[in-house]
Amino acid sequence: MIAMADGDALLELAVSIAREAGEMLLAKRPARPEVLATKSSPTDVVTVLDRAAEELIRTRIRQARPYDAILGEEGGETPGLSGPSGEGSTPGLSGPSGEGGVRWVVDPIDGTVNFLYGLPDWAVSIGVEVDGEIVAGVVHNVPRAEIFTAVRGGGAWLAGERLRCNTGVPLSRALVATGFGYGAERRRVQAEVLADVAPVVRDIRRGGSCAIDLCSVAAGRVDAYYERGANYWDWAAAGLVAAEAGARVAGLNGKPANPELTLSAAPGLFEELHDLLAPLDPERG
Ligand code: IPD
Ligand code: CA
Ligand code: CA
Repeated sequence: MIAMADGDALLELAVSIAREAGEMLLAKRPARPEVLATKSSPTDVVTVLDRAAEELIRTRIRQARPYDAILGEEGGETPGLSGPSGEGSTPGLSGPSGEGGVRWVVDPIDGTVNFLYGLPDWAVSIGVEVDGEIVAGVVHNVPRAEIFTAVRGGGAWLAGERLRCNTGVPLSRALVATGFGYGAERRRVQAEVLADVAPVVRDIRRGGSCAIDLCSVAAGRVDAYYERGANYWDWAAAGLVAAEAGARVAGLNGKPANPELTLSAAPGLFEELHDLLAPLDPERG
């Protein structure tokens, strides 16, 4: 367990890095999606920017905290290092950060397809673990200039306002966000599950960014979120934002949130949605 000041210091660094990465992406992204489409390989262009953003984030983390581990969607896992005793580089962390078990979990662009098409919901997502537990997280929705933050035990915040998820919403009136994977067979199963969810809720939203969907739960912009196939870097930061706003964030049948299923809603609605989903076996496919 680390003291609150430690989480605050880690968050401050994460926010400054997420801001800088967002500014770089905004500056380098061609203004019109068709400009991307006329490139020899549009996917490569996006990949170049995904990688450039992650490289920038990794460089800034290394400069500030050279001993920390990093898990990034594009660059994979970089283990932490053990530095000389007492050389922790963030105020409030005692000992070298490698020994302090700090790991940064990075999705440089969550919502790549929105980014490609010029839709205004993609985000830089950075979560910070200490000893395996996310203690700070930032989700920077760059086009909307919204920076969602949370420190474990310190609440979830957006533009100086403390966030609280919607409570007391029954499933029949719930606005439910979800997402789809990239594989055809998985999508077929996801569509089958959705066919049983859509008729019994208020409506469905597919925003295109898992991280923003979870922040939307936190902000009360949707009531619930579930998705099969979201990865840890998609929800590491945003899961803390949702939890600190009062939502439950978990998997099916008592499991923690995991790539098989990530589900979030206020207590009560969480259980209703869980009990609808579980018999539908959404983890298949
Ligand atoms: C994707 C987005 C999307 C979700 C997919 C993710 P990416 O991340 O979060 O909303 O439905 O499961 O893979 O590819 O844009 O980083
Ligand atoms: Ca992602
Ligand atoms: Ca991504």
